[in-house]
Amino acid sequence: MAKPSSDPGGQVIALREQLEFHNYRYYVLDDPQIPDIEYDRMLRELEALEAKYPELQEEESPTQKVGGFVARTFSEVVHAQPMRSLSNAFEAEEVESFDRRVRELLDLERGDVEYVAEPKLDGLAVSLRYENGWLVQAATRGDGRKGENITQNMRQVMRQHTRLSGKDVPPILEVRGEVFMRKDDFDQLNRSQQAAGDKTFVNPRNAAAGSLRQLDPSVTARRPLSFYSYALGDVVSDRVPPTHWEIMQWLGELGLPVSDRLERVKGVEGCLDYYRRTLDARDQLSYDIDGIVYKVSRMDWQQSLGFTAKAPRWALAHKFPAQEEITVLEKIEIQVGRTGAITPVARLKPVFVGGVTVSNATLHNRDEIARLDVQEGDSVIVRRAGDVIPEILSVIPQRRPKGSKPFVFPDHCPVCGSAVVYERDGVIARCSGGLFCDAQRRENIKHFASRKAMDIEGLGEKIVDQLLEQELIHDVSDLYALKIEQVASLERMATKSATNLIEALEKSKHTALAQFLFALGIPLVGETTAETLAENFGELESIMSADEERLQRVPDIGPVVAESIRVFFEQPHNREIITKLLENGIEWPKSAPREAASDSAFNSKTVVLTGTLSMARSDAKKILQNLGAKVTGSVSKNTDFVVVGVDPGSKADKAEHLGVKIIDEREFLSLAGLADS
Ligand code: IVH
Repeated sequence: MAKPSSDPGGQVIALREQLEFHNYRYYVLDDPQIPDIEYDRMLRELEALEAKYPELQEEESPTQKVGGFVARTFSEVVHAQPMRSLSNAFEAEEVESFDRRVRELLDLERGDVEYVAEPKLDGLAVSLRYENGWLVQAATRGDGRKGENITQNMRQVMRQHTRLSGKDVPPILEVRGEVFMRKDDFDQLNRSQQAAGDKTFVNPRNAAAGSLRQLDPSVTARRPLSFYSYALGDVVSDRVPPTHWEIMQWLGELGLPVSDRLERVKGVEGCLDYYRRTLDARDQLSYDIDGIVYKVSRMDWQQSLGFTAKAPRWALAHKFPAQEEITVLEKIEIQVGRTGAITPVARLKPVFVGGVTVSNATLHNRDEIARLDVQEGDSVIVRRAGDVIPEILSVIPQRRPKGSKPFVFPDHCPVCGSAVVYERDGVIARCSGGLFCDAQRRENIKHFASRKAMDIEGLGEKIVDQLLEQELIHDVSDLYALKIEQVASLERMATKSATNLIEALEKSKHTALAQFLFALGIPLVGETTAETLAENFGELESIMSADEERLQRVPDIGPVVAESIRVFFEQPHNREIITKLLENGIEWPKSAPREAASDSAFNSKTVVLTGTLSMARSDAKKILQNLGAKVTGSVSKNTDFVVVGVDPGSKADKAEHLGVKIIDEREFLSLAGLADS
């Protein structure tokens, strides 16, 4: 933000300078320093000042120009028609005034305007020029008037679309659209960049920009970029459809990629309804979107509405709540988990992002702190998308307070003082105190009592802490020996609540093998693995005595998990606790080990799920596993089936490329014997 100043002239100059700087970081370096929302705030501040003091207006102001530059490294392309930006709206009222203005300018008395509503893709704008059906030129938006010549690179992105298809291919067709990277492609790219020791990208937009603006087109060719068309530029054709809606259909017929989420909507209500539905679906989409674009569909109306200096009057970008924000990292704290894993956690100055107030973010491990080069007191960019835990994307080094010091990762457990040991090439830090460490014991007992484990109602964190402090229990097996009087003596407990807790403990004794296994807190054994183990072995004794080879024959159990299970059951201490628990009366219904349904088409097959299915993905996975299939996350030549839902993303393309069998949800259900074929 600009420094507070009572001098509007000075403020305007400061804001312009900062906006220019951030434009440069965003468009030229593909390495923005601040989140978009912060940029938007500064731009709005400048707009407000310029509106209040018209004498300070200037043609060269960032409020009057399309952000962007032409890099000296690419040759220049002058756009046959300028590439403009869009006006932004953040509130429903702003959409209302946009619609009002459209109707006023068109002199419409009544009736709703038809708009096309479409996702605002978070990538970068490009213009593609086709002559006689061939892709002859591609350019970035640049400053709107001239952009960078990226023809070779776009030929790679448009591999399958360098030639238009269908009849009546127009002699000249300029298509505008967005180059972007899908979320799973982004994750995969970052994983391989990291493995190769190369630079990772902060978000899919930066990855797309960095991948497209490569001087060597063979680098672009290896990057998973996608493209959707959203408008026309220069056109010479016998027939150009009369509405934006039909133009988009036409582009589809010519073989160009167009989003399948476009909708024709009526008036403000239709726009806002589309906005809400798409916001709800945001996290399920395979790519990032930062809002909705509404466009007047009739082209003759677009023509009469025309443009301002920067943006069309017939379109509006209605932004979604930001998923990235700036805040201050006040402190780095160390948490000790149930299995001793030591995790640094960032305590943040509370900030509203992704729809909630965030005050903590995980820092994962020592390497992550080093990678981010983060220190206490730093200004950081926080991202919270969907239900994913908030994360810190980057630090703003220019805003580091004077005298701040690098964070020193502890070499002793902050809770019990035991030495910290490192696993997996030094990435994972663990307290070596085991169950001597109060933090580990406490987390272990809390986990044992939790709903998906033994489900002991009323045994919350505060009670566990007191029971441990007063040495009424040492480990989970002591829970079942507790007496009402002992519990009633705790703070904020009375006979009634103590009786309830003892009853809940009694009730929890009747459980299921899977729940019991999960409750034991074996490292790396989550709910699903516990279930698989229970189903496959049927009884505890054979799991406890299984060797690693036998364990690995269970679907989804690899060498690392098998070792962890074996080591856990080998510890005399753990065996003792289990014996005590069983002696105290914990029991579950006996069942026979499961035989795989060997006649299923999915038995012993590797299956990948992609896109949105009508059932939860976890349910589809369970159905497949019950039929003996292995469900994996990425497509390879070892994949037997790819089940595609709606909006499938790049996995389906990859399957097609590798010749892997692709089936839709109906075929999947029918092969699973769950529907008529
Ligand atoms: S239409 C003259 N439609 O948003 C109108 N733009 O903030 C041209 N964008 O530069 C833009 N999705 O890069 C349009 N469905 C969409 C879009 C879209 C993303 C980008 C585009 C544009 C920027 C403006």
